[in-house]
Amino acid sequence: MGPSASPRMREVMGCFIQHIHDFARECNLTVDEWMAAVKMINWAGQMSDDKRNEGQLMCDILGLESLVDDITYQKALKSGKPVTASAILGPFWRADTPTRPNGTNISEDTPEDGQLVYMHGRVTDVESGEPIPNATVDIWQASTNGLYEQQDPNQKEHNLRGKFVTNSHGEYWLYCLRPTPYPIPNDGPAGKLLTLLDRHEWRPAHIHLMALADGYKPITTQIFDKDSAYLSDDSVFAVKEGLIVSFAERKQDPQAGLELKYDIRLARCTETFS
Ligand SMILES: [Fe+2]
Repeated sequence: MGPSASPRMREVMGCFIQHIHDFARECNLTVDEWMAAVKMINWAGQMSDDKRNEGQLMCDILGLESLVDDITYQKALKSGKPVTASAILGPFWRADTPTRPNGTNISEDTPEDGQLVYMHGRVTDVESGEPIPNATVDIWQASTNGLYEQQDPNQKEHNLRGKFVTNSHGEYWLYCLRPTPYPIPNDGPAGKLLTLLDRHEWRPAHIHLMALADGYKPITTQIFDKDSAYLSDDSVFAVKEGLIVSFAERKQDPQAGLELKYDIRLARCTETFS
């Protein structure tokens, strides 16, 4: 590396090159095997676009995104009280998700087997416990057929996703679907690799969310239905104990028979990034 490489680039790439060479030596990697991997990486790139991120999915099934997420979370834990636990972003988040008024039902065309949930909670400062107004809670989930809207031509654009802004009490509220397990897409290299490894494609039922507020570290996480299958063998290794939630019965609400309360604790930004 030349003298202009940044110290962090030198550290990360030095470590990477050392390990990838050791890896090749340790398993006696052949040219054919290396080329098969190169083709798989190229295939992942070719099938990725702004709606699909196959490279990220490949990292997910290898547990890499979950590991990196955990390293980042453990670093955050050392610097203060426990913020809401994080989990991987996954490949289905969209940057252009619309902001919707609190109380909106994000299930625009609820499937027959779908159960509506009233989801609500507060976003608070982890140190003071004070509510954080004007925080954004970005939520996305798959439908009961196992597909996110960008994978499914029968769902409306931005179905089952929305951003919600907290009120002066730090509260957000909406209607969504009780999540159901789904298989990750198996028509690309990630699916091919799972087959080669004799592994299943299923993820436990979950809702993705991201919380952001001015002056606070953003959090990306997923919450998991405690009654779901695959909690102990998630194909992308994202389940953490603190992210398992219970859906309660909800009475006297014509819109939803279930309720989920989920509070989010954010830590103030103390570091500056360059
Ligand atoms: Fe997901």
